[in-house]
Amino acid sequence: MNIERDFSLKNYNTFGLDVKAKQFVSVKTEKDLTQSLQQVYASEILVLGGGSNMLLTQDIDKTVFHIDLKGKKVLNETDESVLLKVAAGENWHDFVMWCVERNYGGIENLALIPGNVGTSPIQNIGAYGVELKDVFVECEAIHIQSLEQRIFTKKECDFGYRNSIFKSKVKGQYIITSVVFELSKKNHTLKTDYGAILKQLEKQDVSTPTIKSIAEAVIAIRQEKLPNPSEIGNSGSFFKNPIISTKFFKKLQQQYPEIPFYKLSSTEIKVPAGWLIEQAGFKGIKRGDAGVHKRQALVLVNYGTATGEEILALAKEIQQTIQDKFNILLEMEVNIIS
Ligand code: EPU
Repeated sequence: MNIERDFSLKNYNTFGLDVKAKQFVSVKTEKDLTQSLQQVYASEILVLGGGSNMLLTQDIDKTVFHIDLKGKKVLNETDESVLLKVAAGENWHDFVMWCVERNYGGIENLALIPGNVGTSPIQNIGAYGVELKDVFVECEAIHIQSLEQRIFTKKECDFGYRNSIFKSKVKGQYIITSVVFELSKKNHTLKTDYGAILKQLEKQDVSTPTIKSIAEAVIAIRQEKLPNPSEIGNSGSFFKNPIISTKFFKKLQQQYPEIPFYKLSSTEIKVPAGWLIEQAGFKGIKRGDAGVHKRQALVLVNYGTATGEEILALAKEIQQTIQDKFNILLEMEVNIIS
């Protein structure tokens, strides 16, 4: 175990923010993890996976644990499906492509989502009609304070839209060490009903889609609309899409007949935050090196030397403007670390 001091996290967060950690330890085995945890107070730890869903606003006066556990294991296999146990530190997109190559179906729509396998359940990552919970079986986690290992079943995870027990009841208490997925080996359920996917498949001249062609379509769509974090720092969607009552939506629709929406139930409607932000005039704007992406208003970006505080200030300005203009509170999807 190698503890580094005053360690720059620039290469460990996808916003590319040059923030220093008082101590930094990269753990590669579970034994490493428990041993390192024994040496620090639970309240003085910050857990880092792919660093793709956090905004670091100042130097971290704690020990940062970089979870670098690796490995994929087939637990069980039938003609129809495969049960895979994957270590938390595996890169999410690499895992998706590994499955696509083996014709394991279920996560092809989640290609190119930044982050690691171990953080995917925390916010129940989702895109193009698929959510992590659709393939999730259980995950193993370690309690930071007691060091006890525990399995969380799918039911216990209490998954919702970009939400789980790890963001609510047990927030900050556990480190996820591995995740078990069930994927299909044949008769895949292909999700192509999301408008942009159908259009992209047509563009690729695909009439009979496979999991590979869907992954390729998703990659093409994301590359066109979303900035690559290794080129422009970002954290994907910065805000959640707000869920509002049908009654309130009807009023909004009278004023803005072209507002896109997604009906969740007879009483609830989800509206795209990106549309609201664009309407409020923020798309493509820059405040120093902090900005709103020019092709997707839901994504805040660091054009180079922005600080976490500057990005947060921009996020708050957007929140306030949307509140004033539409009377809707935008909730941040990204974790603000202060
Ligand atoms: N829109 C605008 N202006 C914009 C962006 C979007 O008007 O600048 C409109 C679009 O025209 C469309 C609607 O908003 O009618 C929805 O846009 P899009 O399909 O791009 O999806 P989204 O709601 O912006 C969500 C997820 C994304 C995910 C996509 C595809 C959330 C918070 N975001 O975005 O997730 O990739 O759907 O499924 O739910 C992420 O979490 O990092 C992420 C990228």
